[in-house]
Amino acid sequence: MTIVTEIVQDVYRISTYVPERNLQINQFLIKDDEPLLWHTGQNFLFQTVRDAVAKILDPAGIRWIGFSHFEVDECGSLNEWLALAQGAQGFCSSVGARVNMYDYALRPVKGMENGETFTTGTHRHRFQATPNLPHCWDAGLLFDETASTLFCSDLFHHNGAVIKEVVGRSDIG
Ligand SMILES: [Fe+2]
Ligand SMILES: [Fe+2]
Repeated sequence: MTIVTEIVQDVYRISTYVPERNLQINQFLIKDDEPLLWHTGQNFLFQTVRDAVAKILDPAGIRWIGFSHFEVDECGSLNEWLALAQGAQGFCSSVGARVNMYDYALRPVKGMENGETFTTGTHRHRFQATPNLPHCWDAGLLFDETASTLFCSDLFHHNGAVIKEVVGRSDIG
């Protein structure tokens, strides 16, 4: 089951509960001039996440694809997304780009420096390098300054189907 929730204006959480892992896998979509997808999910979730994104905007129009660290729930289907969204720029920490993505990614991924900012149109974002937080030395987090929203990856990791607890502007059926 996948639920799409607008958590702040033009910021959506895509949440899929995976019973085999007793875990919900989340991605975040920022609807802006240059749409941004934070986390891709695993390869087996590619079509599910793509279809969820399509409820909000054209997935092929995604322009930024970012992730906190090199694990499959964060960026497993990165190459599927880079193939689908030809104009998209992948991004992660500079460590992640140097250590992993130069070999893994379909095309070069931008390594963000600590505190680096960029805009996607009306939203301005700041990348924070956070080595080993939540885990992995390539870790980093994204802060949407405009929406005052921190995309904190696995920081509050817990098991179970807790989708119903999220407080949002509206669920997108
Ligand atoms: Fe992780
Ligand atoms: Fe994770």
